[in-house]
Amino acid sequence: MRNKIVAGNWKMNTIVREGVALASDINVSLKDINLPENVKIILAPPFTHIAFVEQVTDDKKIIIAGQNCSSEEQGAYTGEISAKMLKMIGCSAVIIGHSERRAYFCETSETLAKKTEQALKNELTPIFCCGEKLEEREAGNHFNIVKNQISESLFNLSEKNFSKIVIAYEPVWAIGTGVTATKEQAQEMHEFIRKTVAEKYGNNTAEKLTILYGGSVKPDNAAEIFSMPDVDGGLIGGASLKADSFVDIVKAIL
Ligand code: 13P
Repeated sequence: MRNKIVAGNWKMNTIVREGVALASDINVSLKDINLPENVKIILAPPFTHIAFVEQVTDDKKIIIAGQNCSSEEQGAYTGEISAKMLKMIGCSAVIIGHSERRAYFCETSETLAKKTEQALKNELTPIFCCGEKLEEREAGNHFNIVKNQISESLFNLSEKNFSKIVIAYEPVWAIGTGVTATKEQAQEMHEFIRKTVAEKYGNNTAEKLTILYGGSVKPDNAAEIFSMPDVDGGLIGGASLKADSFVDIVKAIL
């Protein structure tokens, strides 16, 4: 059975005290919820919070992820955080190639391939983000853009390594805008991603791939989006910053 994931990307929000309170509230709420074996909950706090968040969350229920990692292993890269550092502080996953990193920090497909390699080398699950801008969709280019993002950064991986990847489809026009993709738009792209992966790695690997949708997922639209056959959960921004709304989204996947 395919893994399902609800992941909260806190982005550059909260100070440590607030982040610990948020994680702790989520942890308490999840105690009363019986999670099926294939449902995983991930929190991606800022780097400065990870060690503290790790202490207040049950590692059997909550996986901690970094929001980014360096493309390099170690050395003179001032300001960078390596995949190994994340692993050693308790992370099991890392978000790679979020559209904000692509747009504001000039991350290229080549850099993201190296980040993915670092993540895998350190046994972190890469949550690899892809998604088109509004003008690319309006020009009818969205399938090509997403296919290129995935193939340029991931299709050099062996089948064994590719099977450790989680993909998050996050149309840029839906992030933080309150405009969610319709369930049909999400399904159409997720199906396309699975087909693209099947052509490269075969049906078996494609069928097992977890594909998350991200972009203005809220408690009132989560169930509808998660009901689609190729949508295996969500990467949640704004609505993950309140324990109640995040936990309501978790309930929508059950
Ligand atoms: P929002 O849920 O705030 O639209 O953000 C989505 C996102 O970018 C998650 O990575």
